[in-house]
Amino acid sequence: MRTREIIIGAIVGSVLLFVAGILVGLYGIPKSTSESKSNVASLATECSTTTYDAEWDTYRNKYLQKAAESSCYKATCDTEDLPRTYISYHLDGKSIKIDGKLDDPAWLEVPWTDSFMDIRGPDYPKPYFDTKVKVRWDDQRLYVGARMQETHFWGTVTRDETAVWKENAFELYIVPDGSLHNYKQLQINVMNVTWDLMLKKAYIDFATSCDRSRAFDSSWDSDMRKATFTDGIVNDINSTGTFWSAEWSLSFERLAQHTDRPAGKLKPDENEAWFFSFARPEYKYKIVNGKYVKDESAPTEWWSWQPTYAINNHLPSRIGLVQFKRKMNDETFKWEKWHLYRALFEVFEAEHKYKSVSGKFIDDMSLLQLAPKIMSSSCVDLSVTLNQGHFTVTAISKLDSNLPQAHIRDDRYVWFTN
Ligand SMILES: *[C@@H]1O[C@H](CO)[C@@H](O)[C@H](O)[C@H]1NC(C)=O
Ligand SMILES: *[C@@H]1O[C@H](CO)[C@@H](O)[C@H](O)[C@H]1NC(C)=O
Repeated sequence: MRTREIIIGAIVGSVLLFVAGILVGLYGIPKSTSESKSNVASLATECSTTTYDAEWDTYRNKYLQKAAESSCYKATCDTEDLPRTYISYHLDGKSIKIDGKLDDPAWLEVPWTDSFMDIRGPDYPKPYFDTKVKVRWDDQRLYVGARMQETHFWGTVTRDETAVWKENAFELYIVPDGSLHNYKQLQINVMNVTWDLMLKKAYIDFATSCDRSRAFDSSWDSDMRKATFTDGIVNDINSTGTFWSAEWSLSFERLAQHTDRPAGKLKPDENEAWFFSFARPEYKYKIVNGKYVKDESAPTEWWSWQPTYAINNHLPSRIGLVQFKRKMNDETFKWEKWHLYRALFEVFEAEHKYKSVSGKFIDDMSLLQLAPKIMSSSCVDLSVTLNQGHFTVTAISKLDSNLPQAHIRDDRYVWFTN
């Protein structure tokens, strides 16, 4: 009986928090499950009997229509219309001390990413604080350093494995296998407090609130080393500064957990590209009784490296790419699979947009509003199959016959077959 009450409570809680989540911009992680892993476990066995969540569907359709209006890329072959890219160089025997300062020679010798912009895209105001990131790797670990302009350093989230993103934070999203499922998210605040978790798939790709409530697995552990640095005193209203920085090293073995990476291929191959996102929510504060307090009534800034064109970091088909290289003089991002992904993403979004209007997916691509380049088959041959209302898109490269066939499902899962 007790379990049942917890489950019902959790479902009701999720629905309420989901509505709140819409207001704060689809960051909504249902609180009822973020607090207790046993709730996640018990919900997992119950979801199959949940009825379809019409309220979510309405929201989702509205979002998709909006997203389609501001369609971010045009389809094309090869390297054009890439999202933002960054080249991460192997440490090649050098070392990085995780102290938050990013002053090791191994950091100084590599470039920053481009500065962050509003997550809704370049048409929105440029962030008033700059944010940039560097990434390096060795055979065991991935190194990430972020530098964030800031004047006032404050925070109240002091426990690891809680919702760090609800205050100022730096966030990292990593897709270690290109599938866009089982991706990893990490968050850190000025006080060196972190949350690392695995997302089974993007929240928006779940049909029901029950399913969404078990979207993430907080028990996944990145085996992180971490540190932060601030050039002002944290939570002292009389102290101001100019920036804070965050530094992480994460284990490739842990990042590869629950992914499609073959055993024995935990670290990236040279020239492998991974979907990556870096983001930074920036909240307004007020001072009450000599202390910083989050100003709940002021709008939050959502800044990110690659904009997803929505206030939603959980759209793994709209994030940036990091390519792993060994030779420091190789500065060109070039990834032979991009044109396949690009075409799959284009049809994926068009299918969801079509469904938001007509209520179903379709296998006649001529009825989807696809860019002429996609339809002309100059980059890829595309086909869509429907099975019990679900679609699979297949893309076959016309640039390179050695490339495997690429597929995407309506829940955004991507895989390759020979
Ligand atoms: C941050 O936390 C880690 C792990 O708890 C600790 O090793 C490190 O010294 C802390 N340091 C700073 C400067 O934030
Ligand atoms: C900040 O400065 C004011 C005025 O000098 C002082 O009263 C207050 O105690 C200081 N606060 C902190 C946190 O140091």
